[in-house]
Amino acid sequence: MSRILTGIQSTGTPHLGNILGAIIPAIKMANGSQNESYLFIADMHSITQIKDPKELKFNTYSTAACWLAFGLDYSKTVFYRQSDVPQVTELSWYLNCYFPYQRLTLAHSFKDKADSLEDVNAGLFTYPMLMAADILLYDADIVPVGKDQLQHIEITRNVAGRFNNLNGNTLIIPESKINESTMLINGTDGNKMSKSKNNVINIFLEETLLKKQISGIKTDSLPLEASKDWKNCNLFNMYKLLADENQIEIMKKNYEQGGYGYGHAKNDMLNLILTRYSVEREKYTYYMNNLDEIDSILKNGAELASKTANTVLNRVRLKVGFN
Ligand code: ADP
Ligand code: TRP
Repeated sequence: MSRILTGIQSTGTPHLGNILGAIIPAIKMANGSQNESYLFIADMHSITQIKDPKELKFNTYSTAACWLAFGLDYSKTVFYRQSDVPQVTELSWYLNCYFPYQRLTLAHSFKDKADSLEDVNAGLFTYPMLMAADILLYDADIVPVGKDQLQHIEITRNVAGRFNNLNGNTLIIPESKINESTMLINGTDGNKMSKSKNNVINIFLEETLLKKQISGIKTDSLPLEASKDWKNCNLFNMYKLLADENQIEIMKKNYEQGGYGYGHAKNDMLNLILTRYSVEREKYTYYMNNLDEIDSILKNGAELASKTANTVLNRVRLKVGFN
C-alpha cells in the first residue's frame, strides 16, 4: 500500500476552475483509493503572502468547507491543517541545513514570485524546504501536483537523498504524479480562470452576488433577435461544462433561432449553477456557519498526522545528533 499526500494552497475560496479541474478529480481518487491518503491545507505556506490573520483563517475554512461540500471522505483521508502539526517546521529547519543555498536560488517559483510580488520575504525563498518537510515528515510515497510544482518535488527528492547519503536511509524518497487535468476552465473574460485575474465564478456566493459575477461573463454584442454562434461563445462553453445533453441541445437551438439574448443565457446559467450545485452550496453554507465542526474534523486529522510526524521526526533527530 502506498501513501499519497498532497497540499492545497489556501489563498481564497476555490473557484469553478479549481473545483472542476482539481477538487472533484482528487476527491474521486481519494475516496475510491485503496491507498492511504493525506490531504492538508497549506496555511503556513499561505503566510508568505497573506499577512491578515482574519483573511488567513477565512481562507482555511472556506477551502476546507469546499472540499467537505464536494464529498471528501475524512474518515478515509487524513485531512488536516498544516499549522496544526508544527513539527513540520522543525524538520524544515534540518532540511534547510542540508540543502545548498545556491540550489534554492535556482527555484523558478521563487524567481517568478520575486519579480511579481512586493513582499519578497525569506519565507518565500525557503518555501521549497517547508514543502519538502510537508512530504518527508509523513513518509509519503506519491505526491500528486500540478506541473508548476514539479521542481519542488525534485528539490524534495534531492534534499532527502542528501540527508540519506550522509546519515543512512532515513527519509522516503517520494515520486511525483502529475495532475494531467484535461480540463481548462475559462473565466468570465475568456482567459484561464484564476484567482489572480479577477475572472472567477464562485459557485458558493449568495444568489444576488453570483448573478453579478455571471452577468460579467464577456460575450459579443449581438442584439436579442439575432441568431448567435454558440461554438465561439464563452458563456455557452461555460454552460456546457455543467449542463446535461438535453439542456445543451436546448441552449444551442435558442442561440441559433434568435429571440434569445445573452441576458436570457446568463439567467439560465445562474439557474443551472443553483440547481446543479444546490447540495454543495447548502453543505458549504452549513460548514461556514459551523466552523467548530470544521475545526473538529481538522483537529482529528492533525492528531492522526501527528503520530506519523513524531515517528519520522524522532528518526531524523537521532541521525542529526539530537535525542
Ligand atoms: P489559481 O490560478 O486560481 O491561483 P491554483 O494555482 O491555486 O489556482 O490551482 C489550484 C488547482 O486548481 C491546481 O491543481 C490547478 O491545476 C487547478 N486549476 C486552477 N485554475 C484552473 C482552471 N482555470 N481550470 C482547470 N483547473 C484549474
Ligand atoms: N506548493 C503547493 C502549491 O502551491 C502546495 C503545497 C504545499 C504542497 N506543500 C505541499 C503540495 C506538499 C504537495 C505536497 O500548490
